[in-house]
Amino acid sequence: MKGVILAGGLGTRLSPLTKVANKHLLPVYDKPMIYYPITTLVNAGVKDILLVTGGNNAGDFLRLLGNGAEFGLKHLNYTYQRGEGGIADALKLAEHFCGGDKLVVVLGDNIIERNIVRAVAAFAEQGQGAKILLKEVPDPQRFGVATLDGNRVTKIVEKPKQPETNLAVIGIYMYDGQVFEIARNLKPSARGELEITDVNNAYIERGQLTFDVIDGWWTDAGTFESLFRASERVRAGGANHLA
Ligand code: G1P
Repeated sequence: MKGVILAGGLGTRLSPLTKVANKHLLPVYDKPMIYYPITTLVNAGVKDILLVTGGNNAGDFLRLLGNGAEFGLKHLNYTYQRGEGGIADALKLAEHFCGGDKLVVVLGDNIIERNIVRAVAAFAEQGQGAKILLKEVPDPQRFGVATLDGNRVTKIVEKPKQPETNLAVIGIYMYDGQVFEIARNLKPSARGELEITDVNNAYIERGQLTFDVIDGWWTDAGTFESLFRASERVRAGGANHLA
């Protein structure tokens, strides 16, 4: 299983914090934001990792992380996304690295309290397809929102004004090799980006999307409020430290 961390984009929702610094290097309590998604992958046993960066000062990632020795890694791979083409556009850069293997994608601003060990193990056993992780939230209109029918996801809507459920699709996704063919055939959304929600809906159409609901808290950190809340939660002692 390969790991891909998406840490591109310009972080405009956090301007002026992101005018000079890359969003994923901003502090979340006592660590740079990027430490948390790396820890999520490493704790799940995913150690062959590609970091997709972009935007300002991309070289800072290399200075900070090197080959990932601090996380027990022998090697860390890097690539660069030009512009702001969206999550699914950044993912395309991982095709060569994944070489047909399954992959776990983590958005660089997603922080979890616990781990994804159970979900990754289940996905390793799953034949074809993809797996997403859901979490009940009080503000689903900020996220991709899933509608369920029993143990099946029937649809995902990106940032709905009137969400049908309070189940947010968190920024940790598991895919098989089909994901790159799906990403290549996407059309840009109204905000001009290739949406990861459209990738997940393509797997629903193929009848190949499974889900799990994660234990413990989850937060993104891409807005002032969520960045602040992430620091508070980590400070309170919860985040996923290196096991
Ligand atoms: C992205 C996805 C959204 C998902 C969220 C998780 O939103 O588009 O579906 O729920 O990440 O953090 P963005 O942060 O790009 O607005």
